[in-house]
Amino acid sequence: MKLGKPLIKELDNFRLLAKTEVANSKLMSKVTETLLYLGSRSHAIRLGHGLLVKDLPRHHVLSDRRILVVVDAKLKRLAKQLVRQLGSRCVGMALLSGGEKTKNLSTLPKLYEAAAKARLDRESVVIAMGGGVLGDVAGFFAATYLRGIRIVHVPTTLVAQVDSAIGGKTGVNLPVGKNLVGAFHQPSLVFVDPAILRTLSERQFRSGLAEVIKYGVISDPQLFKRLEARMDRILSRDPKELSWVIHRCCAIKAKVVSRDEHETSGLRAILNFGHTIGHGIEAAAHYELLHGEAIALGMIGAVDLSQKLLKLSKVAAERIKTLIEKAGLPTRLNARYKDAQILNAMKLDKKVSKGKIRFVLAQRIGSVKTGIPVSEEQVREVLAHLRA
Ligand SMILES: NC(=O)c1ccc[n+]([C@@H]2O[C@H](COP(=O)([O-])OP(=O)(O)OC[C@H]3O[C@@H](n4cnc5c(N)ncnc54)[C@H](O)[C@@H]3O)[C@@H](O)[C@H]2O)c1
Ligand SMILES: [Zn+2]
Repeated sequence: MKLGKPLIKELDNFRLLAKTEVANSKLMSKVTETLLYLGSRSHAIRLGHGLLVKDLPRHHVLSDRRILVVVDAKLKRLAKQLVRQLGSRCVGMALLSGGEKTKNLSTLPKLYEAAAKARLDRESVVIAMGGGVLGDVAGFFAATYLRGIRIVHVPTTLVAQVDSAIGGKTGVNLPVGKNLVGAFHQPSLVFVDPAILRTLSERQFRSGLAEVIKYGVISDPQLFKRLEARMDRILSRDPKELSWVIHRCCAIKAKVVSRDEHETSGLRAILNFGHTIGHGIEAAAHYELLHGEAIALGMIGAVDLSQKLLKLSKVAAERIKTLIEKAGLPTRLNARYKDAQILNAMKLDKKVSKGKIRFVLAQRIGSVKTGIPVSEEQVREVLAHLRA
């Protein structure tokens, strides 16, 4: 590919921003900012422990705008504090319940009606405050209302803070499958406040750690080492430790998305490490397992395949499995979840192309390869090993 001048300039800018990012992460002062560079859709991911109510209302993205707050009902109290600070700019608040059942088309009319009642216009902003479910639904609503209005994400689960609020994927489920209706719609700002995670259940928190471990495996040996050394502090939700880890994950996701926004070059696919078998298990378990729990098992399966197909060392494989265990995530597959169901669900997954099951596998901690073809027989072996 021949690099035209504008593209070279873009890459230079990205390098410049990446440097600022590192400088910021060393300071770790009150608020750190990571820039997701996407040309005209560039935006910041601000992170400040306990600073949401104080910092967000002052942000220029919200100045002189009509604002609709869409919030997970569990966070109503915090949302009210935020609304008070927003003052007359806040023209409405819509409450949604968390959990996958909210993520469907029938939730949307409620939001469109709230928007019409609040008289939102093309200059207005939606603040979406909640987990991945709320962010995905509210994101799709913002992408479609008046053909697209601004959205600010305030993610409130670990999954949402390190993953779903970043990257612009929005959407809802259909009865026949997850995430089948959606749109890419980049937010104007993401505000991450790890203090909001205080009220998150232990199980939900640990589930989010599966994605955190994933970032270490796919691209960051230093993050991986830190997780190994300080898992206890992370599990106790130590503010400094949590901020460092979440910031690091956000920076990785931002970097990947900025280089492959629409999953066209293949780079964004590295984020699917552990998700091929993981999605199969998630569906076969009829969602008895949380996403991160299924992904933890999927990562162990991918590690086994990586040893066989990419010569991942035994030491590295053991380190990954031990870390998953340390995070309190499952490492054994329940015998109730059968091969046929898991494989069927895997074949329906968007990540399967031309009948081949293609995997993201690890070469070493911090480096993965995408598009590795794996036979059904090899998957069955891995599943048997996971049940042993
Ligand atoms: N758009 C993306 O790129 C992307 C990426 C990953 C996952 N996702 C989607 O995200 C969804 C899963 O997100 P999730 O795990 O955050 O689920 P979720 O939004 O359902 O939240 C999990 C539970 O935690 C509750 N909750 C939220 N914040 C809380 C808090 N601070 N304290 C106490 N309880 C709180 C919710 O009410 C819910 O019961 C899935 O639908 C998945 O497809 C999207
Ligand atoms: Zn995931």
